[in-house]
Amino acid sequence: MNLPALSKILSPFHEGEKIIQQRLGVRDRMEKFGSRVIRDHLPDQHRAFYQQLPFLFLGHADANGWPWASIVCNPPGFAVSNDSEHLTLNASPVAGDPLAESLTPDLRIGLLGIELHSRRRNRLSATISEQSNDHFTLVVDQSFGNCPQYIQGREWHWHEGVIPAPPKHFSAFDETTQAFIGAADTFFVASAVGANHKQNASDEEKINGVDISHRGGRAGFVRVDNNRQLTIPDYLGNFHFNTLGNFLKNPKAGLLFIDFDRGDILQLIGTAKILWDSPDTRHFEGAERLWTFTLERGHWIRNALPVRFTAPEFSTNSLLTGTWQEANARQQAEQDTQRWHSLTVDDIVDESKTIRSFYLTSETLTQPTYLPGQFLTLRIPTQTAGGNDCGATNESDIVRTYTVSSAPADRRLRISVKREFNGRASGYLHNHLNIGDSLEAQSPRGNFHWQADSSRAAVLIGAGVGLTPMVAIARHCWLESYRTRKPRPVIVFAAARNAAERPFFEELKQLQTQSQGMVRVVWALSQPESSLKPGQDYHHHGRINQELFQAVLPLDDYDCYLCGPDTFMQSMYDTLSDLGINDTRIFAEAFGPSSLQRKIPKDSQSTKLAAHSETSPKTQLADSALVRFFDSDQQLVSEHTWQADEGSLLDLAENHGLQPAFSCRAGQCGACVACVEGADIHYDEQPQCALNEGQVALCVGRPAVATNGLSEPPVLSVYWD
Ligand code: FES
Repeated sequence: MNLPALSKILSPFHEGEKIIQQRLGVRDRMEKFGSRVIRDHLPDQHRAFYQQLPFLFLGHADANGWPWASIVCNPPGFAVSNDSEHLTLNASPVAGDPLAESLTPDLRIGLLGIELHSRRRNRLSATISEQSNDHFTLVVDQSFGNCPQYIQGREWHWHEGVIPAPPKHFSAFDETTQAFIGAADTFFVASAVGANHKQNASDEEKINGVDISHRGGRAGFVRVDNNRQLTIPDYLGNFHFNTLGNFLKNPKAGLLFIDFDRGDILQLIGTAKILWDSPDTRHFEGAERLWTFTLERGHWIRNALPVRFTAPEFSTNSLLTGTWQEANARQQAEQDTQRWHSLTVDDIVDESKTIRSFYLTSETLTQPTYLPGQFLTLRIPTQTAGGNDCGATNESDIVRTYTVSSAPADRRLRISVKREFNGRASGYLHNHLNIGDSLEAQSPRGNFHWQADSSRAAVLIGAGVGLTPMVAIARHCWLESYRTRKPRPVIVFAAARNAAERPFFEELKQLQTQSQGMVRVVWALSQPESSLKPGQDYHHHGRINQELFQAVLPLDDYDCYLCGPDTFMQSMYDTLSDLGINDTRIFAEAFGPSSLQRKIPKDSQSTKLAAHSETSPKTQLADSALVRFFDSDQQLVSEHTWQADEGSLLDLAENHGLQPAFSCRAGQCGACVACVEGADIHYDEQPQCALNEGQVALCVGRPAVATNGLSEPPVLSVYWD
């Protein structure tokens, strides 16, 4: 009777890999997928691939069980596969590489073939069947292809006359080694589970063995914590979890770094630890989790390789990830939301007749932690060199908020500003701000933003400059879908009067093309120019309405995002409500004084009111109060008596020449939120923006009478700068 091969019966994954797949919810999918793509032989395509390479990466475990990552080189053709089960390497390890001593028949080997310029790679796990001074032959246990995600493109060329220097051993990283690792964009990691010789392995252990994997990112993706420890982000990959699965069973690891310019190699062995819930993870763009490597020992072999490489061409996936320097900056910015950062105008682009984009860079706000849809608070100098000719009534700076129209992964902040009639801030930005000029800004914030946890399709509805957050969200969705390989449909309904006032037209069109329709854009022009072609320059003549939604949107469950003038917002909200979209699925951002009247279902309204009454006891408006305004250094700026007819705390501040940030003036956006102490705050209606304990929405907040029964006017301290 012909029995099926062992590999057909057993799972291609060992216990460590299965535990991680289970933990991350991909176990069943990967079992089916792995059984299909992990083979017990070399497909012809892989055989041809290995034979054209000038170098291969090998992982093995030495006699003490330490995995080492190695590289062997020879001109293309040195790897020969005469049949689908064998691969012979006519090459020897670099002198001084521990692989040279370990090479014996029956040794388990992990092999990685990688063509840097085309980003192709294939892997196999194998056992040495035969070995001599100048060659060794591998018999294949498992073979599979690998995605090219984080491989930097590099061309290679042969470098004759190489004589490797003797290894230089160490047990702690010196400054040179730390700097080299800290600037690396690529390394290779070996890990091992089970016996290092197959003859010692049980049937179950035969699926164990040694793995060698590529790790890539932007230069600076490996953090040197001290002279023995490194921290490394783990990005989305193929979900096999060969490396981390091995670490779970055996934390020993071997790393190989290559100096691609000089041909030096750095081989390290040490202990790995997976950090599932490190707080550092969320600051590192693209990191799903982290792992640390603690050095046992290592060595440099200078001039080790007979190949040299060109400068890297970074893969798109790598460019969507962060660096430790950026992660630190993000963490700092998050802790220091009130800090003013200096930004430099990098570029200026007209988006329409009235909307202009400003690209901003900053040394301290390079990687702000923000969500697409949030706004930037800017301090704008309205005094120009030639005098104040932009409508300002005094020479002081003014503070305004502008939605960020770039995605976080774009790395340059972009605001897109509409030129308002008699607008001091927009007038200054349009008329006087030039490339190279500076502005000050706080980290982006705001309650209106992309709902990252939702898996529903997104409907983005914006009019005119209200398209700024929608462009940021659409860009983010596309970049995230590229990074995670999880498409999430986005339909943009964009409204404008005509082509002259149609912002981001080309950008959205390009996004639709690049995303292959994942982002779909529908333009509604109310007064299109006669020269425009319907279906090409716009899709609907008139305003966005119920019929358009019904014609475009398939029956589905959506998250809807609205931004634009108040009448537009209310009309869109009412239309979506009439179509049965639940209030909780409609996210809205108002520009200027605006208050969206939401239709909250009776039962959820009573729940909300009940919850509110528990946490927010009824307050009574004070007749008068003493209000002290402080800056971020807690220095008193000014103090004023507030009277009941004086309006909100924002009005009070502005009446006395102060410039708190604001946007909606309706308690919705959170732009004016400040810290308050000393007295309660009265709201006619509870603000919709998020407020923590001790915070006030200045635009709708007014002093409340003291709850301690004292009859004196309350004294408030407000800190907003
Ligand atoms: S300005 Fe929007 S909440 Fe106050």
